[in-house]
Amino acid sequence: MNVLHVASEVAPFSKTGGLGDVASALPKAQAQLGAQVTVVSALYGSIQATALGLAKRLRTFDVPVGDTTYKVGLFEGSLPGSGPRVPIYFIDHPLFSERPGIYGPPDRPGEDYPDSALRFALLSRAALTLAQELDWRPQVVHGHDWQTAMALYYTKMGALEPVPATVMTVHNLLFKGLCSLETAQKLGVQPEHLSLSGVEFYGQAALIKAGLMFADRVTTVSPNYAREIRTAEFGYGLEGVMQSLGSKLSGILNGADYERWSPWLDPYLPARYGAAPTSTEQLSDADWATLMAGKARCKSELQRELGLPQRLKTPLLATISRLTDQKGIDLIIDFLEQELPETGERSDFQYAIIGVGDPAFEQRLKMLASRYPARLAVRLGYDEALSHRVEAGADFFIMPSRFEPCGLNQLYSMRYGTLPIVRAIGGLLDTVVDYDPRSRSGTGFAFSSYDSVALLSAVRRALATYHGDAGSFISLQRRAMRADFSWSSSAKAYLSIYQQAI
Ligand code: ADP
Ligand code: GLC
Repeated sequence: MNVLHVASEVAPFSKTGGLGDVASALPKAQAQLGAQVTVVSALYGSIQATALGLAKRLRTFDVPVGDTTYKVGLFEGSLPGSGPRVPIYFIDHPLFSERPGIYGPPDRPGEDYPDSALRFALLSRAALTLAQELDWRPQVVHGHDWQTAMALYYTKMGALEPVPATVMTVHNLLFKGLCSLETAQKLGVQPEHLSLSGVEFYGQAALIKAGLMFADRVTTVSPNYAREIRTAEFGYGLEGVMQSLGSKLSGILNGADYERWSPWLDPYLPARYGAAPTSTEQLSDADWATLMAGKARCKSELQRELGLPQRLKTPLLATISRLTDQKGIDLIIDFLEQELPETGERSDFQYAIIGVGDPAFEQRLKMLASRYPARLAVRLGYDEALSHRVEAGADFFIMPSRFEPCGLNQLYSMRYGTLPIVRAIGGLLDTVVDYDPRSRSGTGFAFSSYDSVALLSAVRRALATYHGDAGSFISLQRRAMRADFSWSSSAKAYLSIYQQAI
Protein backbone atom coordinates (compact mmCIF):
# COMPACT_ATOMS: atom_id res chain seq x y z
CA MET A 1 0.00 0.00 0.00
CA ASN A 2 1.48 3.35 -1.07
CA VAL A 3 0.44 6.15 1.25
CA LEU A 4 1.16 9.87 0.94
CA HIS A 5 0.70 11.88 4.15
CA VAL A 6 0.57 15.65 3.84
CA ALA A 7 0.80 17.57 7.11
CA SER A 8 1.52 21.13 8.20
CA GLU A 9 3.71 20.01 11.11
CA VAL A 10 5.81 16.90 11.68
CA ALA A 11 7.85 16.34 14.87
CA PRO A 12 10.73 16.71 15.51
CA PHE A 13 11.11 19.07 12.53
CA SER A 14 8.15 21.29 13.32
CA LYS A 15 5.57 21.11 16.08
CA THR A 16 3.09 23.33 17.87
CA GLY A 17 0.98 20.54 19.34
CA GLY A 18 -0.19 16.96 18.99
CA LEU A 19 -0.60 17.05 15.21
CA GLY A 20 3.18 17.20 14.87
CA ASP A 21 3.56 14.10 17.02
CA VAL A 22 0.87 12.16 15.16
CA ALA A 23 2.12 13.12 11.69
CA SER A 24 5.44 11.59 12.66
CA ALA A 25 4.36 8.55 14.67
CA LEU A 26 1.50 7.29 12.48
CA PRO A 27 3.54 7.05 9.25
CA LYS A 28 6.28 5.19 11.14
CA ALA A 29 3.77 2.74 12.59
CA GLN A 30 2.24 2.18 9.16
CA ALA A 31 5.67 1.54 7.65
CA GLN A 32 6.24 -1.05 10.36
CA LEU A 33 3.11 -2.81 9.12
CA GLY A 34 4.62 -2.96 5.64
CA ALA A 35 3.07 0.11 3.97
CA GLN A 36 5.21 2.30 1.69
CA VAL A 37 4.75 5.67 3.32
CA THR A 38 5.98 9.10 2.29
CA VAL A 39 5.40 12.31 4.25
CA VAL A 40 5.36 15.81 2.79
CA SER A 41 5.50 19.01 4.82
CA ALA A 42 6.90 22.54 4.50
CA LEU A 43 10.37 23.93 5.19
CA TYR A 44 9.54 26.69 7.67
CA GLY A 45 12.15 29.27 8.59
CA SER A 46 12.49 27.65 12.02
CA ILE A 47 13.62 24.27 10.64
CA GLN A 48 17.40 23.88 10.91
CA ALA A 49 17.81 21.77 7.80
CA THR A 50 21.47 20.83 8.21
CA ALA A 51 21.28 20.08 11.93
CA LEU A 52 18.31 17.80 11.25
CA GLY A 53 20.13 15.92 8.51
CA LEU A 54 18.01 17.24 5.64
CA ALA A 55 19.55 17.24 2.19
CA LYS A 56 18.75 19.90 -0.38
CA ARG A 57 17.68 18.41 -3.70
CA LEU A 58 18.90 20.33 -6.69
CA ARG A 59 15.68 19.97 -8.59
CA THR A 60 13.00 22.63 -8.47
CA PHE A 61 9.55 22.17 -9.91
CA ASP A 62 6.48 24.17 -10.84
CA VAL A 63 3.34 23.88 -8.78
CA PRO A 64 0.05 25.19 -10.16
CA VAL A 65 -2.29 26.71 -7.57
CA GLY A 66 -5.38 28.03 -9.33
CA ASP A 67 -4.09 30.16 -12.19
CA THR A 68 -0.71 30.87 -10.64
CA THR A 69 2.43 28.79 -10.85
CA TYR A 70 4.91 28.64 -7.97
CA LYS A 71 8.46 27.42 -8.33
CA VAL A 72 9.43 25.39 -5.27
CA GLY A 73 12.58 23.70 -4.04
CA LEU A 74 12.91 20.49 -2.11
CA PHE A 75 14.65 19.08 0.94
CA GLU A 76 14.66 15.40 1.83
CA GLY A 77 15.19 13.55 5.10
CA SER A 78 13.85 10.61 7.10
CA LEU A 79 11.60 10.36 10.12
CA PRO A 80 13.85 9.49 13.07
CA GLY A 81 13.29 6.19 14.85
CA SER A 82 13.94 2.50 14.42
CA GLY A 83 12.06 0.47 11.85
CA PRO A 84 11.82 0.88 8.08
CA ARG A 85 12.95 4.23 6.66
CA VAL A 86 10.12 6.71 6.11
CA PRO A 87 11.14 9.47 3.69
CA ILE A 88 9.96 12.98 4.41
CA TYR A 89 10.08 15.80 1.88
CA PHE A 90 9.97 19.48 2.70
CA ILE A 91 8.60 21.96 0.20
CA ASP A 92 10.88 24.97 0.05
CA HIS A 93 9.34 28.30 -0.88
CA PRO A 94 9.66 31.82 0.59
CA LEU A 95 6.05 31.56 1.80
CA PHE A 96 7.45 29.05 4.33
CA SER A 97 11.18 29.69 4.62
CA GLU A 98 10.87 33.43 5.09
CA ARG A 99 8.38 33.06 7.92
CA PRO A 100 9.71 32.36 11.41
CA GLY A 101 6.44 30.76 12.58
CA ILE A 102 4.50 27.75 11.34
CA TYR A 103 1.05 29.36 11.39
CA GLY A 104 1.69 32.93 12.47
CA PRO A 105 4.21 35.32 14.02
CA PRO A 106 5.87 33.60 17.02
CA ASP A 107 5.49 36.74 19.13
CA ARG A 108 1.73 36.82 18.52
CA PRO A 109 0.40 33.36 19.50
CA GLY A 110 -3.00 32.50 18.12
CA GLU A 111 -2.64 34.87 15.17
CA ASP A 112 -2.39 33.40 11.66
CA TYR A 113 -0.45 34.89 8.77
CA PRO A 114 -3.03 36.61 6.54
CA ASP A 115 -2.09 34.43 3.55
CA SER A 116 -2.47 31.09 5.40
CA ALA A 117 -4.98 29.80 2.87
CA LEU A 118 -2.51 30.30 0.03
CA ARG A 119 0.47 28.94 1.98
CA PHE A 120 -1.25 25.67 2.78
CA ALA A 121 -2.92 25.33 -0.60
CA LEU A 122 0.60 25.55 -2.02
CA LEU A 123 1.83 22.84 0.36
CA SER A 124 -1.19 20.66 -0.51
CA ARG A 125 -0.76 21.04 -4.26
CA ALA A 126 3.04 20.73 -4.13
CA ALA A 127 2.79 17.36 -2.36
CA LEU A 128 0.85 15.98 -5.33
CA THR A 129 3.17 17.48 -7.93
CA LEU A 130 6.07 15.99 -6.01
CA ALA A 131 4.57 12.49 -6.20
CA GLN A 132 4.37 12.95 -9.97
CA GLU A 133 7.92 14.28 -10.16
CA LEU A 134 9.17 11.27 -8.22
CA ASP A 135 7.11 9.05 -10.49
CA TRP A 136 5.59 7.56 -7.37
CA ARG A 137 1.94 6.54 -7.35
CA PRO A 138 0.22 6.82 -3.99
CA GLN A 139 -2.90 4.70 -3.66
CA VAL A 140 -4.05 6.89 -0.79
CA VAL A 141 -3.54 10.58 -0.08
CA HIS A 142 -4.03 11.30 3.62
CA GLY A 143 -4.52 14.93 4.70
CA HIS A 144 -4.56 16.28 8.25
CA ASP A 145 -6.70 19.22 9.41
CA TRP A 146 -7.78 22.17 7.26
CA GLN A 147 -4.25 23.02 6.20
CA THR A 148 -3.93 19.99 3.95
CA ALA A 149 -7.61 19.39 3.15
CA MET A 150 -7.03 20.98 -0.26
CA ALA A 151 -4.66 18.11 -1.13
CA LEU A 152 -7.71 15.85 -1.04
CA TYR A 153 -9.77 18.23 -3.14
CA TYR A 154 -7.05 18.62 -5.78
CA THR A 155 -6.69 14.84 -5.83
CA LYS A 156 -10.42 14.39 -6.40
CA MET A 157 -10.25 16.97 -9.18
CA GLY A 158 -7.72 14.81 -10.99
CA ALA A 159 -4.31 16.22 -10.00
CA LEU A 160 -2.90 12.67 -10.04
CA GLU A 161 -3.43 9.83 -12.47
CA PRO A 162 -4.69 7.26 -11.64
CA VAL A 163 -6.79 9.05 -9.02
CA PRO A 164 -5.81 7.83 -5.53
CA ALA A 165 -8.29 7.33 -2.69
CA THR A 166 -8.45 10.16 -0.16
CA VAL A 167 -8.65 10.20 3.63
CA MET A 168 -9.03 13.27 5.82
CA THR A 169 -8.22 13.27 9.52
CA VAL A 170 -9.72 15.97 11.73
CA HIS A 171 -7.43 16.73 14.65
CA ASN A 172 -9.29 19.83 15.73
CA LEU A 173 -12.60 21.04 14.35
CA LEU A 174 -12.20 24.49 15.85
CA PHE A 175 -9.77 25.45 13.11
CA LYS A 176 -11.61 25.62 9.82
CA GLY A 177 -9.30 27.51 7.45
CA LEU A 178 -11.68 30.40 6.84
CA CYS A 179 -11.07 32.64 3.83
CA SER A 180 -13.19 34.50 1.33
CA LEU A 181 -14.99 32.57 -1.40
CA GLU A 182 -12.98 34.62 -3.87
CA THR A 183 -9.72 33.41 -2.32
CA ALA A 184 -10.96 29.82 -2.42
CA GLN A 185 -11.70 30.22 -6.10
CA LYS A 186 -8.23 31.64 -6.71
CA LEU A 187 -6.80 28.60 -5.00
CA GLY A 188 -8.53 26.41 -7.53
CA VAL A 189 -11.91 25.58 -5.98
CA GLN A 190 -14.30 25.25 -8.90
CA PRO A 191 -17.26 27.66 -9.01
CA GLU A 192 -19.78 24.86 -8.49
CA HIS A 193 -18.00 23.90 -5.26
CA LEU A 194 -18.29 27.35 -3.69
CA SER A 195 -21.76 26.44 -2.38
CA LEU A 196 -22.98 24.83 0.82
CA SER A 197 -22.42 21.35 -0.62
CA GLY A 198 -18.83 22.44 -1.27
CA VAL A 199 -16.61 24.71 0.80
CA GLU A 200 -19.09 27.48 1.67
CA PHE A 201 -19.55 28.24 5.38
CA TYR A 202 -21.73 31.17 6.45
CA GLY A 203 -20.84 33.34 3.48
CA GLN A 204 -17.14 32.46 3.57
CA ALA A 205 -15.10 29.45 2.53
CA ALA A 206 -13.95 26.94 5.17
CA LEU A 207 -11.10 25.03 3.57
CA ILE A 208 -11.60 22.16 6.02
CA LYS A 209 -14.73 21.41 4.00
CA ALA A 210 -12.56 20.73 0.94
CA GLY A 211 -11.59 17.61 2.87
CA LEU A 212 -14.84 16.84 4.68
CA MET A 213 -17.01 17.07 1.55
CA PHE A 214 -14.65 15.49 -0.97
CA ALA A 215 -12.52 12.89 0.83
CA ASP A 216 -13.58 9.26 0.52
CA ARG A 217 -13.28 8.74 4.27
CA VAL A 218 -13.09 11.14 7.21
CA THR A 219 -11.60 10.16 10.52
CA THR A 220 -11.03 11.94 13.77
CA VAL A 221 -8.65 11.12 16.57
CA SER A 222 -10.87 9.37 19.12
CA PRO A 223 -14.16 7.45 18.93
CA ASN A 224 -15.75 9.74 21.51
CA TYR A 225 -14.83 12.93 19.63
CA ALA A 226 -16.31 11.34 16.49
CA ARG A 227 -19.62 11.19 18.40
CA GLU A 228 -19.26 14.63 19.98
CA ILE A 229 -18.65 16.54 16.74
CA ARG A 230 -22.06 15.46 15.51
CA THR A 231 -23.53 17.72 18.23
CA ALA A 232 -23.82 21.52 18.36
CA GLU A 233 -21.70 21.70 21.54
CA PHE A 234 -18.58 20.31 19.86
CA GLY A 235 -19.34 20.71 16.15
CA TYR A 236 -18.66 24.47 16.07
CA GLY A 237 -21.11 24.96 13.22
CA LEU A 238 -20.03 21.86 11.31
CA GLU A 239 -22.20 19.37 13.24
CA GLY A 240 -24.64 19.18 10.30
CA VAL A 241 -21.81 18.26 7.94
CA MET A 242 -20.56 15.70 10.44
CA GLN A 243 -24.00 14.12 10.73
CA SER A 244 -24.35 14.02 6.96
CA LEU A 245 -21.11 12.04 6.67
CA GLY A 246 -22.82 9.04 8.31
CA SER A 247 -20.60 5.99 8.34
CA LYS A 248 -17.94 7.79 6.25
CA LEU A 249 -16.88 9.41 9.55
CA SER A 250 -15.18 7.34 12.23
CA GLY A 251 -12.90 7.82 15.22
CA ILE A 252 -9.50 6.16 15.55
CA LEU A 253 -7.67 6.77 18.80
CA ASN A 254 -4.24 8.37 18.60
CA GLY A 255 -1.36 6.40 20.00
CA ALA A 256 1.80 7.47 21.79
CA ASP A 257 5.20 7.19 20.19
CA TYR A 258 6.84 5.23 22.99
CA GLU A 259 10.25 5.47 21.33
CA ARG A 260 10.15 9.18 22.11
CA TRP A 261 7.99 9.02 25.23
CA SER A 262 9.16 6.32 27.66
CA PRO A 263 10.97 7.22 30.90
CA TRP A 264 13.46 4.37 30.53
CA LEU A 265 14.61 5.62 27.10
CA ASP A 266 14.18 9.37 27.39
CA PRO A 267 17.47 11.22 26.70
CA TYR A 268 16.14 14.47 28.21
CA LEU A 269 15.81 13.14 31.79
CA PRO A 270 18.40 13.56 34.54
CA ALA A 271 17.67 9.95 35.56
CA ARG A 272 15.78 7.23 33.76
CA TYR A 273 13.30 4.95 35.48
CA GLY A 274 10.66 2.28 34.86
CA ALA A 275 10.85 -0.45 32.25
CA ALA A 276 8.76 -1.93 29.47
CA PRO A 277 5.39 -3.07 30.94
CA THR A 278 5.86 -6.69 29.93
CA SER A 279 8.96 -6.95 32.11
CA THR A 280 7.42 -5.39 35.23
CA GLU A 281 4.21 -7.37 35.67
CA GLN A 282 5.55 -9.78 38.27
CA LEU A 283 7.86 -7.40 40.14
CA SER A 284 7.62 -7.25 43.94
CA ASP A 285 6.89 -3.87 45.49
CA ALA A 286 10.51 -3.60 46.62
CA ASP A 287 11.88 -4.26 43.13
CA TRP A 288 9.35 -1.85 41.69
CA ALA A 289 10.48 0.85 44.14
CA THR A 290 14.09 0.34 42.99
CA LEU A 291 13.03 0.65 39.36
CA MET A 292 11.19 3.90 40.13
CA ALA A 293 13.99 5.54 42.10
CA GLY A 294 14.86 7.70 39.10
CA LYS A 295 11.45 9.36 39.21
CA ALA A 296 12.19 10.91 42.61
CA ARG A 297 15.46 12.24 41.22
CA CYS A 298 13.59 13.69 38.20
CA LYS A 299 11.18 15.39 40.60
CA SER A 300 13.84 16.91 42.77
CA GLU A 301 15.89 18.10 39.75
CA LEU A 302 12.77 19.57 38.21
CA GLN A 303 11.93 21.47 41.39
CA ARG A 304 15.47 22.83 41.38
CA GLU A 305 15.31 23.76 37.69
CA LEU A 306 12.01 25.59 38.19
CA GLY A 307 13.07 27.32 41.40
CA LEU A 308 10.56 25.44 43.57
CA PRO A 309 11.60 24.19 47.02
CA GLN A 310 13.08 20.70 46.65
CA ARG A 311 10.49 18.89 48.74
CA LEU A 312 9.96 15.30 47.66
CA LYS A 313 6.84 14.72 49.76
CA THR A 314 4.97 17.74 48.41
CA PRO A 315 2.83 16.62 45.47
CA LEU A 316 3.83 18.31 42.24
CA LEU A 317 1.07 19.03 39.74
CA ALA A 318 1.82 19.99 36.15
CA THR A 319 0.31 21.20 32.91
CA ILE A 320 2.07 21.44 29.54
CA SER A 321 -0.23 23.04 27.05
CA ARG A 322 -1.11 25.59 24.48
CA LEU A 323 -2.62 28.32 26.67
CA THR A 324 -5.97 28.62 24.89
CA ASP A 325 -9.66 28.39 25.72
CA GLN A 326 -9.71 24.80 24.48
CA LYS A 327 -7.40 23.65 27.23
CA GLY A 328 -9.41 24.87 30.24
CA ILE A 329 -6.74 27.34 31.33
CA ASP A 330 -9.40 29.56 32.91
CA LEU A 331 -10.36 26.64 35.20
CA ILE A 332 -6.72 26.16 36.17
CA ILE A 333 -6.39 29.87 36.97
CA ASP A 334 -9.61 29.87 39.05
CA PHE A 335 -8.38 26.79 40.87
CA LEU A 336 -4.98 28.39 41.55
CA GLU A 337 -6.49 31.66 42.73
CA GLN A 338 -8.56 29.76 45.21
CA GLU A 339 -5.96 27.26 46.39
CA LEU A 340 -2.63 29.10 46.39
CA PRO A 341 -3.51 31.32 49.38
CA GLU A 342 -4.54 28.21 51.39
CA THR A 343 -2.05 26.65 53.76
CA GLY A 344 -3.58 23.43 55.16
CA GLU A 345 -2.32 19.95 54.23
CA ARG A 346 -5.28 19.44 51.86
CA SER A 347 -4.04 22.33 49.76
CA ASP A 348 -0.33 21.63 50.02
CA PHE A 349 1.00 21.17 46.48
CA GLN A 350 3.34 22.72 43.96
CA TYR A 351 2.31 23.38 40.37
CA ALA A 352 4.45 23.67 37.22
CA ILE A 353 2.99 25.13 34.04
CA ILE A 354 4.76 25.16 30.66
CA GLY A 355 2.88 26.83 27.87
CA VAL A 356 2.45 29.52 25.35
CA GLY A 357 -0.67 31.14 23.96
CA ASP A 358 -3.32 33.69 24.86
CA PRO A 359 -1.50 36.76 26.29
CA ALA A 360 -4.26 37.30 28.89
CA PHE A 361 -3.72 33.78 30.29
CA GLU A 362 0.05 34.22 30.17
CA GLN A 363 -0.17 37.43 32.16
CA ARG A 364 -2.49 36.06 34.85
CA LEU A 365 -0.31 32.97 35.30
CA LYS A 366 2.85 35.07 35.50
CA MET A 367 1.26 37.26 38.14
CA LEU A 368 0.22 34.28 40.25
CA ALA A 369 3.71 32.79 39.93
CA SER A 370 5.33 35.99 41.13
CA ARG A 371 2.99 36.11 44.13
CA TYR A 372 3.46 32.46 45.08
CA PRO A 373 6.97 31.58 43.82
CA ALA A 374 7.35 28.68 46.22
CA ARG A 375 4.19 27.01 44.95
CA LEU A 376 3.78 27.90 41.30
CA ALA A 377 6.39 27.90 38.51
CA VAL A 378 5.33 29.16 35.10
CA ARG A 379 7.53 28.90 32.00
CA LEU A 380 6.09 30.73 29.03
CA GLY A 381 7.40 29.39 25.74
CA TYR A 382 7.76 26.20 23.80
CA ASP A 383 10.40 23.86 25.24
CA GLU A 384 10.47 20.25 24.08
CA ALA A 385 13.23 19.09 26.46
CA LEU A 386 11.61 20.69 29.50
CA SER A 387 8.27 19.13 28.54
CA HIS A 388 9.84 15.67 28.90
CA ARG A 389 11.38 16.58 32.26
CA VAL A 390 8.02 17.85 33.50
CA GLU A 391 6.27 14.64 32.42
CA ALA A 392 8.86 12.71 34.43
CA GLY A 393 9.18 14.94 37.48
CA ALA A 394 5.52 15.65 38.23
CA ASP A 395 3.18 13.45 40.29
CA PHE A 396 -0.04 14.55 38.56
CA PHE A 397 -0.85 16.05 35.16
CA ILE A 398 -3.90 18.31 34.85
CA MET A 399 -5.93 18.58 31.60
CA PRO A 400 -9.32 20.19 32.27
CA SER A 401 -10.06 20.73 28.56
CA ARG A 402 -13.25 22.33 27.31
CA PHE A 403 -12.97 19.95 24.34
CA GLU A 404 -10.19 17.52 23.46
CA PRO A 405 -10.20 15.58 20.17
CA CYS A 406 -7.73 13.09 21.63
CA GLY A 407 -4.98 14.62 23.74
CA LEU A 408 -1.52 13.13 23.96
CA ASN A 409 -0.17 14.42 27.26
CA GLN A 410 -2.48 12.19 29.29
CA LEU A 411 -1.01 9.21 27.40
CA TYR A 412 2.57 10.37 27.97
CA SER A 413 1.76 11.10 31.63
CA MET A 414 0.46 7.61 32.27
CA ARG A 415 3.60 6.10 30.78
CA TYR A 416 5.71 8.34 33.06
CA GLY A 417 3.73 7.31 36.17
CA THR A 418 2.35 10.84 36.39
CA LEU A 419 -1.33 10.40 37.08
CA PRO A 420 -3.64 12.35 34.78
CA ILE A 421 -6.45 14.48 36.22
CA VAL A 422 -8.72 15.14 33.26
CA ARG A 423 -12.14 16.30 32.24
CA ALA A 424 -14.08 13.29 30.97
CA ILE A 425 -14.69 14.44 27.40
CA GLY A 426 -13.32 13.73 23.92
CA GLY A 427 -10.30 11.47 23.80
CA LEU A 428 -9.68 12.02 27.51
CA LEU A 429 -12.80 9.98 28.24
CA ASP A 430 -11.58 7.24 25.90
CA THR A 431 -8.17 6.96 27.53
CA VAL A 432 -8.26 7.74 31.25
CA VAL A 433 -10.19 5.47 33.60
CA ASP A 434 -11.32 7.20 36.78
CA TYR A 435 -9.80 5.74 39.94
CA ASP A 436 -12.20 3.69 42.03
CA PRO A 437 -10.67 2.84 45.43
CA ARG A 438 -13.26 0.12 46.14
CA SER A 439 -12.52 -1.96 43.08
CA ARG A 440 -8.92 -0.70 42.94
CA SER A 441 -9.35 0.08 39.27
CA GLY A 442 -8.51 3.12 37.19
CA THR A 443 -5.53 4.94 35.74
CA GLY A 444 -6.18 8.54 36.78
CA PHE A 445 -8.85 10.97 37.95
CA ALA A 446 -11.74 12.29 35.87
CA PHE A 447 -14.45 14.87 36.41
CA SER A 448 -17.37 15.91 34.25
CA SER A 449 -18.68 19.43 34.54
CA TYR A 450 -16.68 22.33 33.22
CA ASP A 451 -16.12 24.28 36.43
CA SER A 452 -13.31 24.85 38.85
CA VAL A 453 -15.22 23.26 41.75
CA ALA A 454 -15.33 19.96 39.85
CA LEU A 455 -11.62 20.30 39.05
CA LEU A 456 -10.84 21.08 42.68
CA SER A 457 -12.70 18.06 43.91
CA ALA A 458 -10.84 15.79 41.46
CA VAL A 459 -7.53 17.28 42.63
CA ARG A 460 -8.58 16.72 46.25
CA ARG A 461 -9.30 13.06 45.48
CA ALA A 462 -5.92 12.76 43.80
CA LEU A 463 -4.05 14.38 46.68
CA ALA A 464 -5.90 12.23 49.22
CA THR A 465 -4.76 9.13 47.32
CA TYR A 466 -1.21 10.47 47.22
CA HIS A 467 -1.16 11.05 50.98
CA GLY A 468 -3.21 7.93 51.77
CA ASP A 469 -2.00 4.37 51.92
CA ALA A 470 1.10 4.04 49.77
CA GLY A 471 -0.03 0.71 48.35
CA SER A 472 -3.07 2.23 46.63
CA PHE A 473 -1.08 5.04 45.07
CA ILE A 474 1.64 2.73 43.83
CA SER A 475 -0.79 0.24 42.33
CA LEU A 476 -2.60 3.10 40.59
CA GLN A 477 0.71 4.31 39.22
CA ARG A 478 1.65 0.80 38.08
CA ARG A 479 -1.65 0.40 36.25
CA ALA A 480 -1.19 3.76 34.53
CA MET A 481 2.33 2.88 33.42
CA ARG A 482 1.15 -0.47 32.05
CA ALA A 483 -1.72 1.02 30.01
CA ASP A 484 -0.84 0.46 26.38
CA PHE A 485 -1.57 3.14 23.80
CA SER A 486 1.08 2.11 21.30
CA TRP A 487 0.33 2.97 17.69
CA SER A 488 0.18 -0.51 16.19
CA SER A 489 -3.55 -1.17 16.55
CA SER A 490 -4.53 2.36 15.47
CA ALA A 491 -2.15 2.17 12.51
CA LYS A 492 -3.91 -1.06 11.48
CA ALA A 493 -7.29 0.66 11.80
CA TYR A 494 -6.10 3.40 9.40
CA LEU A 495 -4.93 0.78 6.90
CA SER A 496 -8.38 -0.78 6.93
CA ILE A 497 -9.97 2.67 6.40
CA TYR A 498 -7.63 3.03 3.40
CA GLN A 499 -8.87 -0.30 2.01
CA GLN A 500 -12.45 0.91 2.31
CA ALA A 501 -11.54 4.23 0.70
CA ILE A 502 -9.86 2.46 -2.21
P1 ADP B 1 -2.89 19.80 21.21
O1 ADP B 1 -2.47 19.15 19.96
O2 ADP B 1 -4.32 20.19 21.22
O3 ADP B 1 -2.01 20.95 21.58
P2 ADP B 1 -2.08 17.30 22.52
O4 ADP B 1 -2.22 16.85 23.92
O5 ADP B 1 -2.55 16.38 21.47
O6 ADP B 1 -2.77 18.74 22.40
O7 ADP B 1 -0.56 17.55 22.18
C1 ADP B 1 0.20 18.57 22.71
C2 ADP B 1 1.65 18.30 22.41
O8 ADP B 1 2.36 19.52 22.40
C3 ADP B 1 2.31 17.44 23.46
O9 ADP B 1 3.35 16.69 22.88
C4 ADP B 1 2.87 18.49 24.43
O10 ADP B 1 3.92 17.99 25.20
C5 ADP B 1 3.32 19.55 23.46
N1 ADP B 1 3.36 20.91 24.00
C6 ADP B 1 2.34 21.77 24.20
N2 ADP B 1 2.78 22.94 24.68
C7 ADP B 1 4.12 22.83 24.81
C8 ADP B 1 5.17 23.70 25.26
N3 ADP B 1 4.91 24.93 25.67
N4 ADP B 1 6.43 23.23 25.24
C9 ADP B 1 6.70 21.98 24.81
N5 ADP B 1 5.77 21.11 24.38
C10 ADP B 1 4.50 21.53 24.37
C1 GLC C 1 -5.25 18.37 18.10
C2 GLC C 1 -6.10 18.14 19.31
C3 GLC C 1 -5.57 17.10 20.26
C4 GLC C 1 -5.02 15.89 19.50
C5 GLC C 1 -3.99 16.36 18.48
C6 GLC C 1 -3.39 15.21 17.69
O1 GLC C 1 -4.41 19.45 18.18
O2 GLC C 1 -6.38 19.34 20.01
O3 GLC C 1 -6.59 16.69 21.14
O4 GLC C 1 -4.43 14.98 20.39
O5 GLC C 1 -4.60 17.23 17.58
O6 GLC C 1 -4.37 14.46 17.01
